[in-house]
Amino acid sequence: MKTHVLAIVAILLISIDVFSEGFSFSKSRRVGAQSGLSAQRVIVTGAGGKTGQLVFEQLQASSEFTPVGVVRSEKKAKLLRTKYFATNDQIIIGDICSSDESETAGWMTDAYALVVATSAVPVLKKRSLVKMLAKKFTFQKVGRPEFRWSAPDGFPENVDYKGQLKQFDAAVSAGVKRIVVCSSMGGTQEDNFLNSIGKQEDGSGGDILKWKRKAEQYLVRLKEVSHSIVHPGGLTNKPVPSRKLVVDVNDALLERKKRQIYRGDVAAVMVDQLRKTDNNVFDIVSEEVEGGEEGFDMGAMGEFEKQKEKIYAY
Ligand SMILES: NC(=O)c1ccc[n+]([C@@H]2O[C@H](COP(=O)([O-])OP(=O)(O)OC[C@H]3O[C@@H](n4cnc5c(N)ncnc54)[C@H](OP(=O)(O)O)[C@@H]3O)[C@@H](O)[C@H]2O)c1
Repeated sequence: MKTHVLAIVAILLISIDVFSEGFSFSKSRRVGAQSGLSAQRVIVTGAGGKTGQLVFEQLQASSEFTPVGVVRSEKKAKLLRTKYFATNDQIIIGDICSSDESETAGWMTDAYALVVATSAVPVLKKRSLVKMLAKKFTFQKVGRPEFRWSAPDGFPENVDYKGQLKQFDAAVSAGVKRIVVCSSMGGTQEDNFLNSIGKQEDGSGGDILKWKRKAEQYLVRLKEVSHSIVHPGGLTNKPVPSRKLVVDVNDALLERKKRQIYRGDVAAVMVDQLRKTDNNVFDIVSEEVEGGEEGFDMGAMGEFEKQKEKIYAY
């Protein structure tokens, strides 16, 4: 009993930390104007998110690319400035749900590539934890916590499907050459638990993996731009010291017992995909290397690319 109560309190604390970002936005607003960039300009949407920030950071550290982050709030713009030394030219405040396509295309003017790290953001309903605790104390079935989305229009159909399509179309009309998307493993499983998050009684509001996959199906049919779609397993913020990449397709990696990957390693794979020109769709997790060299070994990516028979079925 004690362990269960502690677990629920831990979920509550984590949820406050992870999901407590505020949001207020209207029309998108570019901070400053682009000037004198020599490296290739890469638009990172969702740059204020946990993986998006790491993509931004790694691009910022490279001499090949200049990232421009699209964030939803001034708070996230400030974060990019203070933590990643973004200049005003490198920040756009905008909302992919409320912007129109021409506005979104405007963000991508002169860009070589678009990195999509946006996603509907689930927010834990704290009341559901209280309900779970009450059930626990009255010896009833505890059930699962409930979630809402971080904005009234921030549900998966809007963000992960319509919002992504808008970004893809805008990228094409702005002449962007490459799109790299952070999606998720599990898209082949209709009944994956993640599809139940935020789902209303009438069946609307959820299905995050289904909407992501539908957006992917749209992207892979676009002829005007090349793409990489990366499906990570469970994301973590703390890497083990030595780890190597594992790559496959069609959710085969879901069979593995451990199927997590550090967000920074996902970002490294995405940045690497910016350098490619062919279309790639794959799943990734990482594996601990006992006693191995410190860091992330991405060698499996090269091996995977040679195996041309591993193709994602949509
Ligand atoms: N969590 C996992 O274990 C897991 C596993 C596999 C795959 N994934 C997927 O991996 C990706 C990255 O995950 P993450 O946890 O790093 O993401 P995250 O922190 O939730 O970031 C999502 C980003 O999307 C932005 N966003 C949401 N709605 C938007 C809108 N309307 N306009 C503009 N931006 C919007 C958010 O803005 P704010 O910063 O303002 O909130 C946030 O920056 C997601 O696609 C996720 O579904 C997650």
